[in-house]
Amino acid sequence: MATPSRGSWTGHLGFVLAAAGSAIGLGNIWMFPYRTGTNGGAAFVLLYLIAVIAIGIPLILAEVLIGRSTKKNPVGAFRTLRQGTAWPALGWLGVVAGFVILSYYGVVAGWALEYTWRSALGGLGAIDEEGVAEFFARLTSDGPRQVAEQAAFMAITAAIVARGVEAGIERASKVLMPLLFALLLVLLGYSLTSEGASQGLDFLLKPRFDELTWSGVLAALGQAFFSLSLGMGAMITYGSYLADDESIVKPAFLIASLDTLLAILAGLVIFPLVFTYGLEPGAGPGLIFITLPKAFLQMPGGGFLATIFFALVLFAAVTSSISLLEVVVSFVIDEMNVRRDVASWGVALLIFALGVPSAVVPGFLDLVDGLASNWLLPVGGFLIAVFAGWAMTADEARAAYRGRSNSELGFGAWRLCVRYLAPTAVGVILLQNLGLIG
Ligand code: PHE
Repeated sequence: MATPSRGSWTGHLGFVLAAAGSAIGLGNIWMFPYRTGTNGGAAFVLLYLIAVIAIGIPLILAEVLIGRSTKKNPVGAFRTLRQGTAWPALGWLGVVAGFVILSYYGVVAGWALEYTWRSALGGLGAIDEEGVAEFFARLTSDGPRQVAEQAAFMAITAAIVARGVEAGIERASKVLMPLLFALLLVLLGYSLTSEGASQGLDFLLKPRFDELTWSGVLAALGQAFFSLSLGMGAMITYGSYLADDESIVKPAFLIASLDTLLAILAGLVIFPLVFTYGLEPGAGPGLIFITLPKAFLQMPGGGFLATIFFALVLFAAVTSSISLLEVVVSFVIDEMNVRRDVASWGVALLIFALGVPSAVVPGFLDLVDGLASNWLLPVGGFLIAVFAGWAMTADEARAAYRGRSNSELGFGAWRLCVRYLAPTAVGVILLQNLGLIG
């Protein structure tokens, strides 16, 4: 039974939408398209799909079953399962990762916030095409402006988390996720009927293996981690609000499928427009903030479409940032007995302060992003796989996998993945990051 004061989902729909909301974020709309653009198009997409199926889904299951069986935040969960060992440190790693990731995530989401209201007020239309790059450069070098947007975004995040699991996180996800898909469909209608549609589809769906490098292969794996919110206990935390009689297998597949679908749809919106207006598909991180606005500026009704697009980015970012904050907040509530609203606003304020350098110090954001994406999440994911595959006995893992749903569908395959496949694959990423291979 979930402790009533901790909160719980009203059912599996609430859980799936909240967890998919966590997964679907800047990773899908901002990173996935530009990484696909610079790493061989469909060749990257293919590797990404393999990573999601072979490593992503097993790790979602591992995290969710750890959360569901303990009903605790990540630190408390490992302490409950392995009292008196070093494993709770793995929970700490997650709490730290939540801090670090949200600190710069709030800054990038702040850019989306700025783009949203500017396009809504018609301000983006006043900028000419050459001006877009300059606009973005000016925004990203204007410390106070970025800090103000980041503060606004963090306040939205804290306000939702403060209302609790059901009235805050679940309700926000139930509103924002359908809205997000609806907005995406509107944009998809435009982009798939644009002149560059077939070129855009080709670009995304035809593999160019010659452009794929070893670092592209690793980027696909790292992308799967970040995009599925794995390696830092976000899924442990969300799993801890799940009732024991809910099966975890179907939700895990659904979460991974929705996340992947949205990343691909985001690419299907972006690339046709990029080709229609003769822009550069391999533009890198500036793809949605510089390249895409250039396309919007040339389109009839572009200001409206730009507003829709950036609102979509913003909604996706909110449903992810609340999961990042919730990891830390659940820890503070469970372990320090602090009231939820106090914990939410207090932690958000601390994370905001930690994020200020990402907004004002040039190069800092990339540094922390590198630290989180290349180290914290892969190390966390590696250890979570080792925990589920090796530290947990087969009987213990089976019992946690079943819960009271009594479904062990796929247990054997899952156990093999977390025992061998996931640690090996993630271990390779880490060795590469250390410069020991490749
Ligand atoms: N998955 C989120 C995204 O794609 C980011 C995230 C990572 C959220 C880790 C929670 C935990 O934007």
